[in-house]
Amino acid sequence: MIKLSSTKNENFSSRNYGIQFGNLKTNYIQMKKIAIIIMSLMLTFSAFAQSKPDKMEWWKAAKFGLFIHWGVYSVPAGVYDGKDIDGIGEWIMNNAKIPTARYQAYAKQFNPVKYNPEAWVKMAKDAGMKYLIITSKHHDGFALFGTKASKWNVVEATPYGKDLLRPLAEACHKNGIKLGFYYSQAQDWNNPGGATYSGHWDKAQDGSMDEYIDKVAVPEVKEILSNYGQVDILWWDTPCDMTKERAEKFLPILAKYPNLITNNRLGGDYNGDTETPEQFVPATGFPGRNWETCMTMNDTWGFKSKDNNWKSTKEILQTLIDIVSKGGNYLLNVGPTSEGLVPQPSIERLAEVGKWMKINGEAIYGTTASPFSYLQWGRCTQKGDKLYLHIFDWPKDGKISIQLLNKISKAYLLSDPKKMLVIEKSKTNNTITLVGDAPDKIASVVVVELNGAPKVLPLPAAGKTATASSEKEGTSAKNLFDGNPKNSWQPKPDDQEKWAEVDLGETISIGAFSVVEPWYPWDNKGQKLEIQYKSGDKWLVALALKTNGTGHTASFPSVSARYFRLKIVEAKEPTLNEWILYRAD
Ligand code: GLC
Repeated sequence: MIKLSSTKNENFSSRNYGIQFGNLKTNYIQMKKIAIIIMSLMLTFSAFAQSKPDKMEWWKAAKFGLFIHWGVYSVPAGVYDGKDIDGIGEWIMNNAKIPTARYQAYAKQFNPVKYNPEAWVKMAKDAGMKYLIITSKHHDGFALFGTKASKWNVVEATPYGKDLLRPLAEACHKNGIKLGFYYSQAQDWNNPGGATYSGHWDKAQDGSMDEYIDKVAVPEVKEILSNYGQVDILWWDTPCDMTKERAEKFLPILAKYPNLITNNRLGGDYNGDTETPEQFVPATGFPGRNWETCMTMNDTWGFKSKDNNWKSTKEILQTLIDIVSKGGNYLLNVGPTSEGLVPQPSIERLAEVGKWMKINGEAIYGTTASPFSYLQWGRCTQKGDKLYLHIFDWPKDGKISIQLLNKISKAYLLSDPKKMLVIEKSKTNNTITLVGDAPDKIASVVVVELNGAPKVLPLPAAGKTATASSEKEGTSAKNLFDGNPKNSWQPKPDDQEKWAEVDLGETISIGAFSVVEPWYPWDNKGQKLEIQYKSGDKWLVALALKTNGTGHTASFPSVSARYFRLKIVEAKEPTLNEWILYRAD
């Protein structure tokens, strides 16, 4: 196509010179030819424009990235004045209200002589990660790069004296890992005028936020985007005091980088390209939006010497699969020490995840969300007409069943594609018989090939309207089934009943449910709920539980009923955003 247009282009220029005004007929023919040429050029360009890849394509296929929280906070590493400071490590200055001069003195001990960016990139790559995002500046305002906008940076304030981003950027570019910079645009606890969620605790922090944005944040963002070669992601954080006006100051910079992916944390009502659930997996994903769950491997982002509450490889890997099955990406964090070392438990877990990804990566990269809403034994991902069943709980009787209306043409283990598995089809189910022991202790993948797109039964309450004991103004029980995890239902404050109810229209056997709750992971409340069903004229309890505060999915012994209730038994701020009922297998 491009070749054709360039030939025409050459013809166009050479003939054009020959046009004589006196010869109308030649002119008409020439004009017609020109018009055809222009049209074909336009078509070429528009085809080119259409085939221009969407900037999110690589990101959607990537699924797995490394988050790196690194800075001066790795020096106190959770301990200040001999006291263990609660909370996440990178917040130590704020949590312990450390005066700026005391905090800045830690920079004198920030000397990451063991920093090996090549090894970090290799570690990420071997884990199966496709991108990394590093804190170029966190809320403490300390820049990991040489900036002209503030002296509070690694080159000027530490004995190390060298830019930390450059060699990492180079290693990413060399090894084909996409590069992202986290930048705390609003909170800055050391550069005067920067915002803090809890107010200033040191006079040195006072100043004008607008001036801080103009003189520090905007110039630094320009620097990180222009000094390190290609940057693929800019990850804003905590839009504290970010008015629309303040957020707008960053827009002209972004306009220069049309392929840059940004998240939803700039503030001023800018949504960016991605939703960023933090420390949890949204039960329903974010339909219609790209999203990325970021998560720690222990309980802190920035290094804390005494935090040994490591998640197991099983939890990490099953979380990755869970996220991917819901259409999202997983941004998994490491918090290196002030010497520049990634904690050994993180290295080990990443290596173990990498081993699994080597064998099973096909079932992760480039896949889309599961067509099934709930699978008791594991998760599912999809690529075209192929389904990947990730079996977490290998069945004792060797059988797994999926509610799929299609006939399966083939099923086999991803680790053993030659051995076909036996499939039995009933009207609404396919049952696959597995042979032998689970090939993987954490998740064994069965590939299911179909002739055409998967056909599944709709969710029992899809399109139904919930009613409620009461509705607080501005909220509605209708929001529970609208597929939008951001709208909520709240009962009125004086409501003693606090239930929402749905009529499924017919008796259906239900075996599991999900709720989506508003997410405040740092202020995780949890709600006591009951799933009730109507038997005769009585309401019976199918399941009572306390949610984890960020959404919850649970199964229960199946019950057959037409009417179901979700009762909030106890909650500080009773709120539910979505409610999903799943058919029993
Ligand atoms: C939070 C915290 C922060 C951490 C981040 C990661 O907003 O303020 O310390 O960097 O989330 O998502």
